[in-house]
Amino acid sequence: MMKPLLVLGAVVGTLSCGAVLAQQVVNKPAPPKKAVTKQEAAKSTKDATTAEFEKFREVLEADSPAELFEAKGEDIWKNKRGPDGGSMAQCDLGLGAGVVRGAYVQMPRYFADADKVMDAERRVVHCMTRYLGYQEADIRKQPFSNEQNTPDHVSVVTYVASQSRGMAVAVPQKHPREREAYELGKAVFAYRAGPYDFSCETCHGDDGKRIRMQQLPNLAKKEDAMKSFQGWPGYRMTGGFMLTQQWRMNDCFRQQRFPEPKYLSDAVTTLLTYLTVNANGNVYKGPGVKR
Ligand code: HEC
Repeated sequence: MMKPLLVLGAVVGTLSCGAVLAQQVVNKPAPPKKAVTKQEAAKSTKDATTAEFEKFREVLEADSPAELFEAKGEDIWKNKRGPDGGSMAQCDLGLGAGVVRGAYVQMPRYFADADKVMDAERRVVHCMTRYLGYQEADIRKQPFSNEQNTPDHVSVVTYVASQSRGMAVAVPQKHPREREAYELGKAVFAYRAGPYDFSCETCHGDDGKRIRMQQLPNLAKKEDAMKSFQGWPGYRMTGGFMLTQQWRMNDCFRQQRFPEPKYLSDAVTTLLTYLTVNANGNVYKGPGVKR
């Protein structure tokens, strides 16, 4: 049931990048033989599938498996010590050393000690290498979770995110570097290139687009912008591990047939700045569940 294979060919045809995306639709079932038009059938299948998934997600989020990773991250944050006795109590996420509460919904932001705008994951990795003795080279070997392993920094990001549950997104735009990051992110979002001349907007700049069972939010629209933040980090039901926004960006560059960005690169931070500022004012529900 989890494998998103059950969508009609007609649905894919509604995407502007349909020809390419059609390649991704594996094991397409034959359209149902009913006395309705192809379009009607596609629409009702879409709606039913989405409704079913949303129901399932609600049930799961009520008793969220993400809590396991929150707990692991909390333990690292509170108890782990670096080789020099350092701890995450020294880590400033933007609201003062050791302050976690509310920090997640206020990143990306400018950090003077690094002279960089950093998103939450970048900042967490920065602190873990600085205070806990983690090696950046090791973290880069496996930046994202898979079936075998959820890296420590992902658990810490999940913990940090959980400490902003129920709070409004309020990413600052006071510092000139923060405003610059927003403008750059906006440009990256619109930048078309690669073998198919795709940009993020190709898939996320219109209403009602979809690939297989997945609805594509129109991230250029204020109402939808929260989708790039809500539910992240997300517990991946089809694998049983946590994925972060950094992973999502990476995977969408892949969707776009771009080369993968370097992990924790400026380009990804600027994109996250653009998307998150657009989501400002919405209430964050905490780490969620993603298919
Ligand atoms: C070829 C189409 C395509 C392109 C181009 C693309 N994406 Fe995506 N994007 C997807 C798909 C498919 C999903 C998964 C939707 C789902 O899981 O329901 C997705 C999901 C997302 C999400 C998560 C939405 C949510 O509800 O959690 C974000 C944020 C996102 N993309 C941002 C981007 C950005 C930024 C770019 C440009 C770097 C980009 N995408 C380029 C297809 C694309």
